[in-house]
Amino acid sequence: MERIIVKKSGPLKGSVKIDGAKNSALPIIAASLLGTEPITLEEVPNLKDVQIILKVLQELGAKVEFLDDTTVRIDSSSIDKYEASYELMSKMRASFLVMGPLLTRFGKTRTSLPGGCAIGSRPIDLHLKGFKALEAELNVDDYVIEATAENGLVGKTIYLDFPSVGATQNIMMAATMAQGETVIENPAKEPEIVDLANFLNKLGADVKGAGTSTIRIRGVEKLGGTIHQIIPDRIEATTFMVASAITGGDITIKNCITSHILPVIAKLREMGCKVVENEDDTIRVYCDKKLCGTYIKTLPYPGFPTDAQAQFMALMSVVDGQSKVEETVFENRFMHVEELTKMGAIIATDGSEARIAGVPQLKGAKVRATDLRAGAALVLAGLTTEEETTVSDIYHIDRGYNDIVGKLKALGADIRREEMD
Ligand code: UD1
Repeated sequence: MERIIVKKSGPLKGSVKIDGAKNSALPIIAASLLGTEPITLEEVPNLKDVQIILKVLQELGAKVEFLDDTTVRIDSSSIDKYEASYELMSKMRASFLVMGPLLTRFGKTRTSLPGGCAIGSRPIDLHLKGFKALEAELNVDDYVIEATAENGLVGKTIYLDFPSVGATQNIMMAATMAQGETVIENPAKEPEIVDLANFLNKLGADVKGAGTSTIRIRGVEKLGGTIHQIIPDRIEATTFMVASAITGGDITIKNCITSHILPVIAKLREMGCKVVENEDDTIRVYCDKKLCGTYIKTLPYPGFPTDAQAQFMALMSVVDGQSKVEETVFENRFMHVEELTKMGAIIATDGSEARIAGVPQLKGAKVRATDLRAGAALVLAGLTTEEETTVSDIYHIDRGYNDIVGKLKALGADIRREEMD
């Protein structure tokens, strides 16, 4: 087991290139199960979660080959399995995204419940509601979900009670080869939804309206192959923007689509940061004065992303004055609060709200990455502590950041990874 050790290193300066988006790569790799000709994906980030979903595909019979560090060739033309194993499904919730493609390609699928969790605790009810509407028969027990549509799926209109990213993607993929038209009302509008729709269309699907309040999918008989480049990771970009803000630095972030991160830019400006949007997909974040507190409310896109909430809370812990965070997308997404508190942050939570009173200085501590973005937030907080901050359980961080230590080090951070004793 490894840990990250980090301490105050002065303002971070320089430039950093953002990788392809994890949350685009995962559904697009799952959707590659639909292709009957080879698919080449570029800008695939080198992450634990990506390795898991690629293994799921291999287990199903797809051929996966890395052409270079970030280019993957996937050939699903000869897959013959429609059952995904418990072992891999239980490692990552996003593995459940193979269900839609398998169901529409084979007319049946059998998978475990994602992440080993029971329906109800972290629900997949909207995914299942969608499959059912498309006339799949579902058989769900404590661990396994079987879905069958012997005569194929049938297009319908589906209203999502909440614009779930995963449910929108799973239904969209299932609908690509359903009979007739599927309409998803109140879908998620995230850039990753648009990237998936663009990819599906390149394979020969007919998906319209991704990124708006209604997505229409006309079923086609067969999907082919393509070359597709994954969009940049807006959450990795956000994390480095906060790294600049929290160290009073001056960082230029390359490979960043600014229109994907408007709420983040707005909030950093409200706090007193200078954010310069350039036309060449780069963004410069620098700070020439002490920052002040602000209010954020997480929302489905285009609102403030829940995946940037923890990193902002680390920043709010060290700016002047009070801040408030309202988390409306996930329940219990405040696990980083206890860890930040160990570093001297003053944070009070009440249900889905947290109030933060900025302190002049955090102190080094031994803290635990409780999830991916919480881990990133602790590393960011550690960039401000005079003493060393040790972050353990960093496998969470490796799920979603490729070489965060190397990238921060190149910007001047005093940070290293080492084996735990
Ligand atoms: C995706 C992202 C994750 C991000 C989240 C919200 C990937 C791989 N992960 O996760 O990083 O934090 O979007 O932006 O893209 N819900 C239901 N029923 C369902 C499905 C979801 O009630 O069937 C609820 C969830 O419990 C949660 C909310 O909807 O409270 C949002 O979940 P969802 O948008 O589905 O997130 P994911 O797709 O799992």
